[in-house]
Amino acid sequence: IRTQVGIIGAGPAGLLLGEMLEREGISSVIIDTRTREDIEQTIRAGILEQSTIDVLDAIVPNHRARTAGYRHEGIELDFDGAGHRIDFEALVGQAVYLYPQHEVLIDLLVAADARNADIRLEVTANDVVDLDTATPRILATTKDGEPLEIVCDFVVGADGTRGISRALVNGARREGHFREYPFAWFGILTEAAPSAPELIYAASERGFALISQRNETVQRMYLQCDPEMPVDAMTDDEIWDEFQARVPATELKRGPIFQRDVLRFRSFVAAKLRNGPMFLVGDSAHTVPPTGAKGMNVAVADVVLLNRALREHYAGGGDAFLDSYEEDALVRIWKAQHFSYWMTSMLHAAPNETSYDHNRRIAELRTVTDSEAGRKFLAEGYTGWQFAGWE
Ligand code: DHB
Repeated sequence: IRTQVGIIGAGPAGLLLGEMLEREGISSVIIDTRTREDIEQTIRAGILEQSTIDVLDAIVPNHRARTAGYRHEGIELDFDGAGHRIDFEALVGQAVYLYPQHEVLIDLLVAADARNADIRLEVTANDVVDLDTATPRILATTKDGEPLEIVCDFVVGADGTRGISRALVNGARREGHFREYPFAWFGILTEAAPSAPELIYAASERGFALISQRNETVQRMYLQCDPEMPVDAMTDDEIWDEFQARVPATELKRGPIFQRDVLRFRSFVAAKLRNGPMFLVGDSAHTVPPTGAKGMNVAVADVVLLNRALREHYAGGGDAFLDSYEEDALVRIWKAQHFSYWMTSMLHAAPNETSYDHNRRIAELRTVTDSEAGRKFLAEGYTGWQFAGWE
């Protein structure tokens, strides 16, 4: 098949780019190895920045983030047994929306259905060839084992951390900038009422805990843990006692725990975001640790820039934006890297933390909560940096 833009990966980045290109009159074909059920059930974080909501408002008119999601005007940081609120609305005039990523995916798939988008699921990309020509080809296989070849002007790698795109742009060693962390999160979903009106990020002597939410009856919470911890290492009662011990300032509402998972922490930025006519967006280009829930928001920012570049190319406006895509995208990518790294290191005790490290870290938290400048710095990063002139 022939299309203008071949997109590998039907996650938030690939699907959103398909919708944006459609609006510009640019054709695309999206392939993904997963089934629709797998895509709709991918469990990821739940925070949308204001700028992400602005993009959804413009591109996915029937999205449900404003109706089924929850607007949050602040968060609470807990340490030394007390809560400290960061009031985003008062500090920076912005808010975030609690709306999980799989709901965004469902909204994007509904929008794609409505326009009869060419999205081929259960199709596995094996290779991209002819990247030194003007018509690169994606070589793929359908679920029945039939070969599928997509001839394009441009290829977009939106297939995440483990997809083929990262290596196609950065070589088999997947060159890039990399950082690991000596801890992970143990996440649960529980059937319970919300314990607090906003998210609580707690840095306790026993380690970090995050009290997040999903809706009136389902809550999402995380405990800092050892990366090797088995998901069934603790009973429900032990889990609840541990959460309560780490969040002493709030009495937690307990309920049955119906899902458990362990999330690895990693920071990564690929060395290159472009190889000729192929571009990387989202997790194929970079990874953040979960603290602060930046992942999907940075992916949306990449897509906004790449869409502008492709629009200019097809409208005869030249390739200046394609040529500066990598440099432009990396500015926000690295800001989000820093924010996620900073929130992570400020809130978590490393296993080898000394008393010096601990006291310094608590002072860092005080530097944030005790001054308006500090609170504002956090609020700006958490709610995201506004983009201008993307439409
Ligand atoms: C959630 C995840 C995060 O990493 C975070 O910082 C906030 C919320 C969540 O899954 O709800």
